[in-house]
Amino acid sequence: MTPHNQAQPGDYAEAVLLPGDPLRAKWIAETFLADARQVNGVRNCLGFTGSYKGKRVSVQATGMGQPSLSIYVHELINSYGVKTLLRVGTCGGLNAKVKVRDVILAQAASTDSAIVKDRFGPYNFAPIADFGLLRKAAEKAEAAGLKVHAGNMLSSDIFYHREPGLEGYGLLPDHGVIGVEMEAAALYTLAARFGVRALAVCTMTDCLITGEQIDADARQTSLKDMVTLALEVAIEG
Ligand code: HPA
Repeated sequence: MTPHNQAQPGDYAEAVLLPGDPLRAKWIAETFLADARQVNGVRNCLGFTGSYKGKRVSVQATGMGQPSLSIYVHELINSYGVKTLLRVGTCGGLNAKVKVRDVILAQAASTDSAIVKDRFGPYNFAPIADFGLLRKAAEKAEAAGLKVHAGNMLSSDIFYHREPGLEGYGLLPDHGVIGVEMEAAALYTLAARFGVRALAVCTMTDCLITGEQIDADARQTSLKDMVTLALEVAIEG
């Protein structure tokens, strides 16, 4: 037990999917897992363990943003022995080649967050995905016919910029940063710190160039595709 998690040691599987939204964690458990049981309900930040295709898998909500994710991920690794962490989320698009509904595998995660930047003194640490998970996710996404991109994600602490569209993102879109979300860089930094594996898989739900947003039906289908992909990677990892 931790201040944020009532689960007992052994309650989590070695591989955990990490949506931001607690109700999405519940939906994943109810829709995809067999014999799912709730293992955490503290602050309604729901966690479940069940099985997918006969293998034990967990899903734990992280809340929004890097400070919140860092608490849950730190404890999953250090109090519950989790070894494989797969964020499943949504992101905004910063590159015209990436369309709404496309899946982005965050090969790396740039950030404006002090939670990562202030850790390394004079160095700029590059938070990166686990290569094995990334390779497996890319192969499986292609085999499933998903439109998938691997690239540099921005994990920002800011959702509402003062400037419209791409203006709040400086030179990043010109340097190949294709999407923006709010968690992956802290996830990758913690995974590196504790020697475990992590990958962030995101569905692009809103394009910051055109203003296009995914509609509710497409959102559900895309989320299903992304969660299936993450589960397939989780059970093979
Ligand atoms: N910014 C940050 N996070 C996001 C966005 C965004 O535009 N869209 C989905 N997650």
